[in-house]
Amino acid sequence: MPTTTLDIFRYQPDVADAPYRQDFDLDHAEDTTLLDAVLDLQNTQDGTLAVRYSCRSAICGSCACKANGKTVLACMTQVEDVKRDFGTDRIAVDPIGNFRPIKDLVVDMDPFWDKFKSVKPYLIPDGPAPEKERIVPKEAMQKIYNEAKCILCAACYSECNSLTADPEFVGPAAFAWGYRFAADERDGDRKKRAKLYSGDHGVWDCTRCMYCNERCPKGVDPRDAIEKLGGIAFQEGVTSDKGAKHAQAFLISMRTQGKLNETLLVPYTDPLGAPLDLPFAMRMMKHGKAPSPFHPKIKQHGEVKELLANVKETI
Ligand code: SF4
Ligand code: FES
Repeated sequence: MPTTTLDIFRYQPDVADAPYRQDFDLDHAEDTTLLDAVLDLQNTQDGTLAVRYSCRSAICGSCACKANGKTVLACMTQVEDVKRDFGTDRIAVDPIGNFRPIKDLVVDMDPFWDKFKSVKPYLIPDGPAPEKERIVPKEAMQKIYNEAKCILCAACYSECNSLTADPEFVGPAAFAWGYRFAADERDGDRKKRAKLYSGDHGVWDCTRCMYCNERCPKGVDPRDAIEKLGGIAFQEGVTSDKGAKHAQAFLISMRTQGKLNETLLVPYTDPLGAPLDLPFAMRMMKHGKAPSPFHPKIKQHGEVKELLANVKETI
């Protein structure tokens, strides 16, 4: 029978002001999940140990936590697998990131739910209701199949670097739901959604670190949903945000020169603010830290243009 040391984040606000860590040694079966291990500790060693769970089957999304720094669903993660992955008999168990712990592994989920609600995660149909029902072809549902798998476990939110930098960022899960409805052909509010999801703390503020895709236990790929929402914003002509202009600048640069002209990104993205950055840009150039804005098209410019023309529309 394997033995594991679980080094658990403890926070008991009724007893102590500051969080602390506590080691528990546990003998367990070969296939024990992290959730079962924590529940075993709760039943046999410390009844005050707080954890949130419900289905124990990777369905309800309640049991997300961090195992050695990586966000996982505790009920679908086996203790022995974590030990094998990290080459250790010790597992640090922490509450999910980007949330305020309330007690031990339980966090305050309110900001997550507020952001979820803010994207209007429901159909807003156009026109009068049909007599019977709105039939949707299978292929149309296929487009949103991935996003519809989200169980709102917040593993992506926990790993999101944009949220760590800006707690107001709406976040990957909410945007996955935003895309699920914006791309649903029964929805009539596409343009309004595009406006709602752009702007401050919106889709363009994603840093593309890809951790949300990597850690999502359901293969939702929320970063891809954010990218597709950017595409919808372009289709709907919602391009006044600096983020959208920045994306446009990339495209213009590729089309005209076949490569990225970094020096021109700032004036394209923020024409009014660019003069303020000029002294800084000049200093960078002087120290060889910025490429010259004047460089010719690359030789393979024709090939790049062909590639751009062949980019498949996926929205
Ligand atoms: Fe969880 Fe994935 Fe949904 Fe994020 S997108 S809440 S990680 S299921
Ligand atoms: Fe429901 Fe883990 S307990 S997803």
